[in-house]
Amino acid sequence: PTTIPIPGPPGLPFLGNMFDLDMSFMLGSQMDLAAKYGEIFTLRFPGQVMHFICTQALVHEVCDEKRFKKIVSGALHEIRNGVHDGLFTAQLEEPNWGIAHRVLMPAFGPMSIQAMFPEMHEIASQLALKWARHGPTTPIMVTEDFTRLTLDTLALCSMNFRFNSYYHDEMHPFITAMGDFLTESGGRSMRPPLATKVMRKTTNKYWNDIKILRETAEAVLKSRKEHPSDRKDLMTAMLDGVDPKTGQKLSDASIIDNLITFLIAGHETTSGLLSFAFYQLLKRPEAYRRAQKEVDDVVGTGTIRIEHMKKLPYISAILRETLRVCPTISLTAVNPIEDGTILGGKYVVNKNETIALFLAKSQVDPVAFGDDADQWIPERMLDEAFEKRNREFPDNWKPFGNGLRGCIGRPFAWQESLLVMAVLLQNFNFVMHDPNYTLQYHQTLTTKPKDFYMRAILRHGQS
Ligand code: HEM
Repeated sequence: PTTIPIPGPPGLPFLGNMFDLDMSFMLGSQMDLAAKYGEIFTLRFPGQVMHFICTQALVHEVCDEKRFKKIVSGALHEIRNGVHDGLFTAQLEEPNWGIAHRVLMPAFGPMSIQAMFPEMHEIASQLALKWARHGPTTPIMVTEDFTRLTLDTLALCSMNFRFNSYYHDEMHPFITAMGDFLTESGGRSMRPPLATKVMRKTTNKYWNDIKILRETAEAVLKSRKEHPSDRKDLMTAMLDGVDPKTGQKLSDASIIDNLITFLIAGHETTSGLLSFAFYQLLKRPEAYRRAQKEVDDVVGTGTIRIEHMKKLPYISAILRETLRVCPTISLTAVNPIEDGTILGGKYVVNKNETIALFLAKSQVDPVAFGDDADQWIPERMLDEAFEKRNREFPDNWKPFGNGLRGCIGRPFAWQESLLVMAVLLQNFNFVMHDPNYTLQYHQTLTTKPKDFYMRAILRHGQS
């Protein structure tokens, strides 16, 4: 086929396109470049070529796992310093990925996740109680409280550990260490290694944070071994599970890698989703009323139960639409398996080049979503429309990644998010603290709304 060069900003000799990105808000720069160049553009950095693909058609093409595979580079590669070949950061061919994947898939299956409902409910109710105590005039820092919720839920459901984050202004040392470890992993991925080496204080703190993470997880593991429990949590699954393929069990080190991985992978992604969902709801009062009515019709004022979760199609649509327009992981990355791979029938891409599935753009492709593709309209994500579109435009919605390397925690995140939305809409009327607030992004490894405050007004006199 006739091939054509991939467009992109020219950049500088050696340094490439480093200065074409605003390092404090890369997503913004990448969106601007996508608007300028269209379906694909290339950015070059020292030692790395990155092709950003921005349409449903190109994303669909690279979701073919026979031709393309996930790569662990950049910040993800640095995170391996703390969690090694844990599920998220392993290369597919590393044996521990296969063992953990096969052992853990059933533990993230529908039955196991449903069994976690009571504990998810407990943490969600604690949040409702906290907000009720705040009263109607106190501004709530939305992303922070949702992060407390997601971390506490994960730690409780995965290893029966209580951070009790709502009761402290200061976060638990494990949480602080994890946040700093993630930030610095991102920092290291942007600096030449030599620069990191001379930043001795930062580097010492980095390794010390990793030590805190591992020692905490190790202590929880040790205590579980000393006091065996019949809890059906992820820790039990990892301790007892035998890989059907190799007959192997997870090593202690691998259990620790994965416990920390769940907390890392599951907290900001889910809290970002909930925060964006509330932002969008507050900007669209009709959608807000419809969501609240759905909860009132299905649950009423009584206790929310697991059976209700399947009966909230509009709230599901809200979550899907939120992850479409505001994907908390705005890109994932693959390599072609062969050199000289032809993409889109005309672009040549080599094995050592990164292809970024730029979800923030491909998920608002007008080909799949029409002229109002960038508007937040949950109705288009109701089951029937969602399934029809997935048949017509496969891989148009990929916020949980792809194929074998897709998100193992998706059922966990979904049940938790539905439940939290239902508990909060049932008990409160929310208002934007600053009615003129418009969406700003805070970007770390994930994106979430920046400086977004709301207030919570109790509906029924008590929660
Ligand atoms: C993988 C998104 C919640 C655990 C992924 C990937 C994405 C993603 C995009 C693929 C990454 C890649 O291709 O490099 C999300 C979103 C979530 C969420 C948007 C919430 C709304 C969770 C939760 C957990 C979790 C709650 C844990 C309980 C993982 C793990 C992987 C993964 C372990 C790696 C799977 C593998 O490669 O075997 N997630 N995630 N995630 N996620 Fe999630």
